[in-house]
Amino acid sequence: MKIGCVVGARPNYMKIAPLLNALKKYPDIEIRLIHTGQHYDDSMSRAFFDDLDLPRPDDYLGVGSGSHAVQTAHVMTGFETVCLNRRFDRVVVAGDVNSTLACALAAAKLNIPVAHLEAGLRSFDRRMPEELNRILTDAVSDLLFVSEPSGMVNLRREGRVGPGVFLIGNIMIDTLSANLTRAISLDLHTRMGYETRKYGLLTMHRPDNVDTDADLSHLLAVLCEISLEIPLIYPVHPRAAFRVKRILNSSVVSAEHRIRVTDPLSYLDNLCLMAHARIVLTDSGGIQEETTHLNIPCLTLRPNTERPITVEKGTNTIVGKDPEKIRTAVRQVMNGTYKTGDPIDMWDGRTADRCARLIVTHTMAAM
Ligand code: UD1
Repeated sequence: MKIGCVVGARPNYMKIAPLLNALKKYPDIEIRLIHTGQHYDDSMSRAFFDDLDLPRPDDYLGVGSGSHAVQTAHVMTGFETVCLNRRFDRVVVAGDVNSTLACALAAAKLNIPVAHLEAGLRSFDRRMPEELNRILTDAVSDLLFVSEPSGMVNLRREGRVGPGVFLIGNIMIDTLSANLTRAISLDLHTRMGYETRKYGLLTMHRPDNVDTDADLSHLLAVLCEISLEIPLIYPVHPRAAFRVKRILNSSVVSAEHRIRVTDPLSYLDNLCLMAHARIVLTDSGGIQEETTHLNIPCLTLRPNTERPITVEKGTNTIVGKDPEKIRTAVRQVMNGTYKTGDPIDMWDGRTADRCARLIVTHTMAAM
């Protein structure tokens, strides 16, 4: 049995790493790792391979950046060639980035069955490229692995019921659980001059937040104000770095702000800063889940979430770009009245084993 596992961008690595380890336990399976190269900077790719001990990819497509159509098309043509050469019995994709959809579609058109990790999540906001990637990837996948109950409801609503749809838990939490002790002991925050729970972590890279001066200035103005209450560390995605630095050095924001900009962090460094933080402000999807698991307050700088369990049971609050909502939630965190979260079913560090078993059984049955 030949299984091709795909990574392409930063949020993919921590989802595929535990699956590779779980699949290795099955004899007679040939596993191949394909990296599309959607993310290519060392800080967005190699640092994660090192931290997570991922093997060197068997195939590297080197697609790089481009418009959505260009990037998706390059991944599709590159991955089609890999599929034709490697003759996979199964392709596994994760999450919602352009590489996820492109590889799922290329494989499905060659009649190779596709498994989608993190299926069924929906923000119901089709202006987000990730939402289209999720809907379309689910549509061409025969195995759908779901991380939270809302995903099962969404898939049922879309007519995807019965064999092939499984609530298995959150595979990214496997990686978090396996690495937490190591990450905490790095004490990066202390080395940066911060005490535990006396700083916040900020991540913001969505086009909606960072791609225009108007949106980014609006958000940075309120975040600078928050930073006077609690200093913020902001590891900046390359797409936003230039604009963020320019605005933070301009008169648009208060000169006394305490936002510290850094390069993007590796997996362990980011986990270390997250685990010791008092609060996390983010527009990432995965960080909403990681903070819920760590029971750290998370304010989501987006109008919606495709991960509602983090709001219903976890530590997440959707604040969007509304300064008043951001200020209120920060005040609650600072005065100790912010909600605490409950553990989420099946986010137990054993999702990869459940997933690997289902992949092997169903792929065998289809051969
Ligand atoms: C992608 C995902 C997004 C995810 C994010 C995590 C899509 C549609 N979006 O967004 O869901 O949250 O990854 O990081 O797939 N760039 C670099 N170096 C890199 C990669 C990108 O400088 O290694 C810059 C380039 O200017 C590039 C821009 O970032 O044009 C955007 O990269 P892209 O992969 O298209 O989307 P992300 O914003 O990274």
